[in-house]
Amino acid sequence: MSIELIDLQPAVADLVQLVRDGMRARPRQLPAWLLYDAEGSRLFSKICEQPEYGLTRTEIALLKDHADDIARTAGHGVVVEFGIGNARKVDPLLSTIQPPAFVALDISPSALEQSLTGLAGSHPNTAMVGICCDHSHLTDLPEHPRLNGQRRIGFFPGSSLGNFLRNDAVRVLRQFRQLLAGGPLLLGLDQPRDPTALEAAYDDAAGVSAAFARNLLSRLNRDLQGTIDPQRFAYRAVWQEAEQRIEMALVSRCEQSIELAGETWTFQAHERLITEHSLKYSPAAAADLAAAAGWRIQRRWHDRDDSFSLHWLEPAD
Ligand SMILES: C[S@@+](CC[C@H](N)C(=O)[O-])C[C@H]1O[C@@H](n2cnc3c(N)ncnc32)[C@H](O)[C@@H]1O
Repeated sequence: MSIELIDLQPAVADLVQLVRDGMRARPRQLPAWLLYDAEGSRLFSKICEQPEYGLTRTEIALLKDHADDIARTAGHGVVVEFGIGNARKVDPLLSTIQPPAFVALDISPSALEQSLTGLAGSHPNTAMVGICCDHSHLTDLPEHPRLNGQRRIGFFPGSSLGNFLRNDAVRVLRQFRQLLAGGPLLLGLDQPRDPTALEAAYDDAAGVSAAFARNLLSRLNRDLQGTIDPQRFAYRAVWQEAEQRIEMALVSRCEQSIELAGETWTFQAHERLITEHSLKYSPAAAADLAAAAGWRIQRRWHDRDDSFSLHWLEPAD
């Protein structure tokens, strides 16, 4: 069966504007998707293998253990995954749902290509369609013969919704509702728990999370002709109780000026550049969020410690 890739990546000019907006903001912050160039995608896969980062193992186990129940709940249709990464999670869904087509969205072309090539071998009866895009701004799927008239079943694992602050998360969930055209959404969300364990998960002892964050600076140097020395920034991950989130940031070790796309930006010593957030959602908070975005949670599967949930969302009306 074929693999087809559709390129809807943001243009370099958009990247320049995004970085300008992020550098002007206080505190400074860049969109999390910028972390995922080819090296960032590779490093994220390594993060998933770190002993402190249990999320991936927990979610994969849940998806395998409940594959038949999830497939019965899902019914028939094409599966649409938001942020496929290294495709370690969708396999049980493709095996049980056996969709005519699988649509994978990801900002990282390398992740898309490798993942779909791997999946095509084990799911020969499913057409593979990859869309390289920022899914947080995609309002509809491109016209495609394999999608015409098909019900859409969304899959958004990895607690990736947690990268968006609350208002943006509502906007993105609303937009996914439109994109899925009345179809359901299987949403994996991590829950709040012991802050020490959470901080360790996002700042592992082997330093992979720190390398992942610093790679953002190398990416900016490459794509925007930058002059940043990544080692002049420390990395830290802090649990913020009031917001129920981890904040990950690169912190300037000294006062310094950097150049990006011909513009100069000065950092004070200890000033931070937020690379991403990871908001955690209790089941009640997840229900509130879903309702605010026009969804209703109909089912929930969770692990033994109730630290991670797969939520089944249907449009509220
Ligand atoms: C945290 S990783 C999760 C990967 C995988 N879904 C998992 O659960 O292990 C996020 C993935 O989504 C992609 N991604 C992040 N932000 C994105 C965006 N705004 N649009 C499209 N893809 C995005 C990244 O390239 C990466 O592959």
